[in-house]
Amino acid sequence: MNNAHARASGRPATRLRPRAALVSAAVGLALVATSMVVTSSAQAAESTLGAAAAQSGRYFGAAVAANKLSDSTYVGILNREFNSVTAENEMKIDALEPQQNNFTFGNADRIVNHALSRGWKVRGHTLAWHSQQPGWMQQMEGTALRNAMLNHVTRVATYYRGKIDSWDVVNEAFDDGNNGARRNSNLQRTGNDWIEAAFRAARAADPGAKLCYNDYNTDNWTWAKTQAVYRMVQDFKQRGVPIDCVGLQSHFNSGSPYPSNYRTTLSSFAALGVDVQITELDIEGSGSTQANTYRNVVNDCLAVPRCNGITVWGIRDTDSWRSGGTPLLFDGNGNKKQAYDATLQALNSGGTTPPPTTPPPPTTPPPTTPPPTTPPPTTPPPGGSGCTATVSLNQWNGGFVATIRVTAGSARLNGWSVGIGIPGGSSVTNTWNAQASGNSGNVTFRNVSYNGTVNAGATTEFGFQGTGTGPSGTPTCTGS
Ligand code: XIL
Repeated sequence: MNNAHARASGRPATRLRPRAALVSAAVGLALVATSMVVTSSAQAAESTLGAAAAQSGRYFGAAVAANKLSDSTYVGILNREFNSVTAENEMKIDALEPQQNNFTFGNADRIVNHALSRGWKVRGHTLAWHSQQPGWMQQMEGTALRNAMLNHVTRVATYYRGKIDSWDVVNEAFDDGNNGARRNSNLQRTGNDWIEAAFRAARAADPGAKLCYNDYNTDNWTWAKTQAVYRMVQDFKQRGVPIDCVGLQSHFNSGSPYPSNYRTTLSSFAALGVDVQITELDIEGSGSTQANTYRNVVNDCLAVPRCNGITVWGIRDTDSWRSGGTPLLFDGNGNKKQAYDATLQALNSGGTTPPPTTPPPPTTPPPTTPPPTTPPPTTPPPGGSGCTATVSLNQWNGGFVATIRVTAGSARLNGWSVGIGIPGGSSVTNTWNAQASGNSGNVTFRNVSYNGTVNAGATTEFGFQGTGTGPSGTPTCTGS
């Protein structure tokens, strides 16, 4: 939003003598020119973080806590300054699935709706993580955990489909040591392919969201952890695993300081063909030292075309998870700090390299792996009475999640049933948004009370999870 609204003033109403007119015109032109210069530079300096970042097509976001949305100082700053949000805790696994298969979206929805109703972006955080797991998941291992994780990814990404700009699909999967290894966790113990399985499930559930890998201590280009994440992203791109972005949390303090090679890290990841986002920025310290580091971080992002947004991890210092380090842009009273001024100024002076605004590229199947067995989730053309059903399948070694889209024909449905063949040796283990007649062989899935009515041409979805191999045939759909 860099448009200068410089306007030439209207012509004088009275006619002037020729010479006077010339002088007057010259003076007038000079005035107009002066005012244009003044106006355009004044207009270029946006007065809020979000507007300043938007000048180069970037967003500026904050981590938000649902229980603070009733704090007027907090919401006042949020609404004035930011144009993207991340739920600080409300979209984590323990918050969304406190009991297995029992999803609670209330607090997350309050944050998402607050943002979407104002036209902001939402970063989803996070679908799969070793931390902040609900008790039931912490106890799990092996196939049961793999299935539960994929079910969570599928259900949550489906629920929020179309609303999330970028998902942190997997958070913090690498070790802090200098060996570049994966972090040992119950998820890692399900098999090294758990990360790519999560990304594939997320892509199937929400093809429009950018899918990110997010981590901390990945800011310094020379650190083993940074290099290990880089190699994973490179490998994913080479093999066609759907990944669109890398999130650098960037929690900076004396133990993990802002590195002078940060820009190299950003541009190196970007060169792999992914966006880079600074996802949880906070910088411990105060005064001009802190302000300078914020300025450096912003300048580094602005210098890398694919660094397309910055999120700070809270609003006021007192909102921070590390409040003792006063790491944010506003003090406890909501006043702008020096760090704020530096950040705003940097955002206003940069933006010469607008990032591409294209949606995530379609997943290209890698030439070396067999083509996916899943038909793409195409919507059949509505027409005729009755209904049609299509299956979108996420298959992994030993299990699957199937999402079925039911589309009404030219008449409204009052109820529907879908027949699907489950291959021998495979079994349906749980179903959502439908009632299953059995768990193997020819299984009929009927609508439940709240989704039997489907208007002409409209769709509804249900899903099920199973062990073994998922269905491959075309489902039959019967409407009533
Ligand atoms: C933190 C929250 O800020 C705290 O409120 C919560 O108690 C713990 O988690 N990396 C992440 C974030 O990805 O989710 C973490 O957020 C901070 C570190």
